[in-house]
Amino acid sequence: MTKIISSLKEARGFLEKYPRVYLVTSVKLSEKLGWAINELGISNLQTILIPDGEKSKEWKELQKLLAKMSELGVDRSSLLIALGGGSVGDVVGFASSIYLRGVPFIQIPTTLLSQVDSAHGGKTGIDFLGYKNQVGSFHLPEAVVIDKRFIEKLSEKQVIDGLGEVIKAGFIKDPSILRLLEKEKVESIQKSKSLLQIIKKTIAVKNYYTQADFKENKIRQILNVGHTVGHAIELRYKIGHGLAVLYGMERELAVTEKMGLTKKGTRDNFINLLKSLGIVLDKEMKPDWKTVLHDKKIVGDEIAFPVVAKEGVSTIKVIKLNNLKKFI
Ligand SMILES: NC(=O)c1ccc[n+]([C@@H]2O[C@H](COP(=O)([O-])OP(=O)(O)OC[C@H]3O[C@@H](n4cnc5c(N)ncnc54)[C@H](O)[C@@H]3O)[C@@H](O)[C@H]2O)c1
Ligand SMILES: [Zn+2]
Repeated sequence: MTKIISSLKEARGFLEKYPRVYLVTSVKLSEKLGWAINELGISNLQTILIPDGEKSKEWKELQKLLAKMSELGVDRSSLLIALGGGSVGDVVGFASSIYLRGVPFIQIPTTLLSQVDSAHGGKTGIDFLGYKNQVGSFHLPEAVVIDKRFIEKLSEKQVIDGLGEVIKAGFIKDPSILRLLEKEKVESIQKSKSLLQIIKKTIAVKNYYTQADFKENKIRQILNVGHTVGHAIELRYKIGHGLAVLYGMERELAVTEKMGLTKKGTRDNFINLLKSLGIVLDKEMKPDWKTVLHDKKIVGDEIAFPVVAKEGVSTIKVIKLNNLKKFI
């Protein structure tokens, strides 16, 4: 099981166990986050730099990363550190899962989205032939280090992106997250005294599902609430993933309420929470139905659809695609 470590200083004891430690991050982040690298206090640290953001998840960049690992002598007794957002985490996780058939790695996520979501659960991967996350593996990090100081420097857009997955976790499993969010605004979160608590509760929801169903055969699919419609909106309008999940949740709650699968008023509560946080959804944004049809949960003319039954309770229902289309 992955260990959660609550600060960079606390990570030192863990890192001391490894004879060689290699830190992978982007050029941009290595300049911004020098303070964090120093705080890890690793004397013979080797650093590997990769491109910033989604570009690092290209096939040829993976190849360069593996070549560098080989050149620097990474072996199975070494430890890789992924320092950065979800992109760095995904490509480093994948490289560490295939290099020498697997070397240990840890995640030090630096965006809200990666701290609450992508660093956990062991999904790794790269983009391939124009499709996101087409090639990858399930490979758990040895530890995830959460340090809330990384969140302070994020833009409002990056905060909202992380909040998408936080709000989702509240609705599917843990409404106490929603009660904490009701006291916040988007602008107050970064400095909020509840921030670490909100992050940890969201991680607990993700770990609950991923530990019960690591390879996503069934119950882990509940984490995909908001994603069937959300992905289609993300691709069509090129908006951030977490924000797209909020758009997806709004549409999906509307649909499942109409079908009688969700308690009446749940969508209103969702909209009210967004309003009180200061997040406004553009009513014109609708998913492209053809993209919805690419969802991997579809079998024949039905989809195994993760549904919020009421705040904190969710389930998977097989529904007819025709019904989904009619109500979207
Ligand atoms: N593996 C999973 O389960 C999973 C889940 C969700 C998303 N993802 C993946 O995560 C990726 C998105 O991750 P992301 O949203 O964290 O963004 P990202 O990793 O693409 O980074 C976006 C930008 O934020 C900057 N940044 C990162 N940390 C910063 C900090 N502390 N201060 C200032 N700038 C900082 C980066 O330099 C980069 O320019 C996508 O590739 C997505 O597919 C994976
Ligand atoms: Zn997501």
